[in-house]
Order: sequence, then structure tokens, then C-alpha cells
Amino acid sequence: MARITAGISTSHVPAIGAAMDLGKTQEDYWKPLFAGYEWTRAWIARPENKPDVVILVYNDHASAFDMNLIPTFAIGCAEEFAPADEGWGPRNVPVVKNDSDLAWHIAQCCILDEFDITIINKMDVDHGLTVPLSLMFGQPAQWPCKIVPLAVNVVTYPPPTGNRCWMLGEAIARAVASYPEDLNVQIWGTGGMSHQLQGPRAGLINSKWDQRFLDDLTADPQRLRHIPHLEYLRETGSEGIEMVMWLIMRGALSANARELHRHYHVPASNTAVGHIVLANS
Ligand SMILES: [Fe+2]
Repeated sequence: MARITAGISTSHVPAIGAAMDLGKTQEDYWKPLFAGYEWTRAWIARPENKPDVVILVYNDHASAFDMNLIPTFAIGCAEEFAPADEGWGPRNVPVVKNDSDLAWHIAQCCILDEFDITIINKMDVDHGLTVPLSLMFGQPAQWPCKIVPLAVNVVTYPPPTGNRCWMLGEAIARAVASYPEDLNVQIWGTGGMSHQLQGPRAGLINSKWDQRFLDDLTADPQRLRHIPHLEYLRETGSEGIEMVMWLIMRGALSANARELHRHYHVPASNTAVGHIVLANS
């Protein structure tokens, strides 16, 4: 049977992708940020840890969706998804190859489990999805695993609650556990950490809040389920709400998931960067 073996979370700051694409990772500004991902790159390259499939939870940043169409949760079911043009041409990264059968299975299981999710067959995927892949896998000619894109609306109010995200994670875990193929599946939650891109508080970073969030992914995950939108907004800036996507990852893991690795770095452009690797039990 398919099994979720690990959860990974990371920020997906577009400037990180640009730094990799432009060969700047060894510059003084970027070096400490990328150093924190070396552990994970070595870990995920080992045969026993290498995923067959990653369920990659991310948000679109007005690349595939705009005010005409705003799905709260959407799963990509097509065979492949191309990198989006975000204004400077698409990133020079591989096309995302989906495990379409697994994606349709998750869609069916979630919907019959009374967790209605939008099915998407045509969309381009932006930095929210491609930057985490670059961080974990570097710059290969093809991504080394299949990727199921799972897009969450955190751009237009109202985004889903953290608790609803957690419950989606649980529904995804049930779906994966009922898939008959023997697959090593990882679930990644991306976005965050604290950051605000506009207005008088632009540049806001709250390291203390971020670190407690990272602590509680293993110490007190139940607390995280019930953080209200207003707390994200007040404490972590207008874009900190992206962290609800980490709770889809966490909800898909067992109660006693174990922290294997953590990295926290400030700043990448004007964003706090967080990264964690959790082993499922
Ligand atoms: Fe984002």
C-alpha cells in the first residue's frame, strides 16, 4: 500500500528561486540560507528516503488563478503541469510530472469522505510549487519523483482555517493509506513564515512567533489548529497566513511525528524563511 513516510515544510520565496537560477547561492547574502537545506538534500537523496510521489501543498500567486476563479482547495489531476510565466518568462525548471492515478484517487476519496475539493486539469505552476522543489532537489534535468499539486487559496480573503487545513491533511492521509500501489509518499506544506509585502508594516518579521510555530509542529500541534486568521495577520504580517498550508502537511502525519531537521533564517528578500523535516510514524 502507499504510505506517507515524511512531511516537509519550507518557505517558497520567489527570490530563492531567482538566486538559484542566476547562480547566486554561494554569495554572502544567500549562503547561510542555502546551507540550511544541505541536510535535507542529502537525506532525501538516500534511496530509503527518496519519495516516489510528493503531494505538494502550495498557493498560486495570481499565475493560474485570478479574481475570476478562486478555488479554496484544488488538486491537479492532469499528467503534467508547466512552470508559470510570472513576468520574466517561466523559470528554467523541469515540467512537473504528476502521478495522475493517485491524484484522481485522492480527489475521489476526499470528495466521498465529504471533503469537496476542486479538480484542476489545466494550470501552470508558479514559484509556490517550483521553489520548494529546487530547494530539495537542486537543478536536475527532470524532477526525481512524481508531484501531485495541491493549491490552497491564501491570497484572497477568506482563506480556509488552520483547522480545516488540518482536516484536509487527515483526509489525504486516509486516501493515501487506501491506495493499493506500494509508494513512498511525502507531503510538503509550503509558504510563510512571517512576512508582509505591502503597506506601512511591509518587512514585518516575527522570529519569536515563527520559532514557536516550528516548536509546536511536534510539541503541541493541536494548538496550531486553532490559531485564528487575525493572529496570523497581527503577529506574522499579511502574508503569514500561508502557514495554514503547513497544517495540511502536519494533519496528514501521525500524532507522534518526529522532527528530523529544522532551519530558520532571516531574511530572504523581506521574508523569514523556515524549513522543517518530520518523520511519520
Ligand atoms: Fe507565497
